[in-house]
Amino acid sequence: MALERTFSIIKPDATRRNLTGAIVKKFEDAGLRVVASKRIHLTKAQAGEFYKVHAERPFYDELCEFMSSAPIVAQVLEGEDAITKNREVMGATNPADAAPGTIRAEFAESVGENSVHGSDAPETAAEEIAYFFSGLELVG
Ligand code: CMP
Repeated sequence: MALERTFSIIKPDATRRNLTGAIVKKFEDAGLRVVASKRIHLTKAQAGEFYKVHAERPFYDELCEFMSSAPIVAQVLEGEDAITKNREVMGATNPADAAPGTIRAEFAESVGENSVHGSDAPETAAEEIAYFFSGLELVG
């Protein structure tokens, strides 16, 4: 197993309901360490750039509208196999399919308003971290 870093977002549906601490606790309990964190309110254009891979999907406009509707918490999580572990702790994209005890099973409201985002591969993790953080902001 390798020490890895992954990118995570606590989404507007969760910050609105004051769930930031409860969600961070899930990550920490799973052995992931928050090595960078910032609470920001994205513009719709900034959300659109982040999710540009989904630009042709029917839900793209709704997704960008939602992600810019309230503050998010952008984070870098570090740990053994952090990318896979983060995705396990988050649960399936659709909360109806998410395993019991996962963040999305406990907190997500719908497939769109699903409380958290996590990188799906090392390349996307590197790109997504670089979109939100400079090297100086990754503090271990
Ligand atoms: P996320 O992991 O942030 O990556 C893309 C996001 O698109 C996903 O989580 C969901 O929030 C959103 N999404 C995926 N499918 C749908 C859908 N059918 N309707 C609305 N939003 C969706």
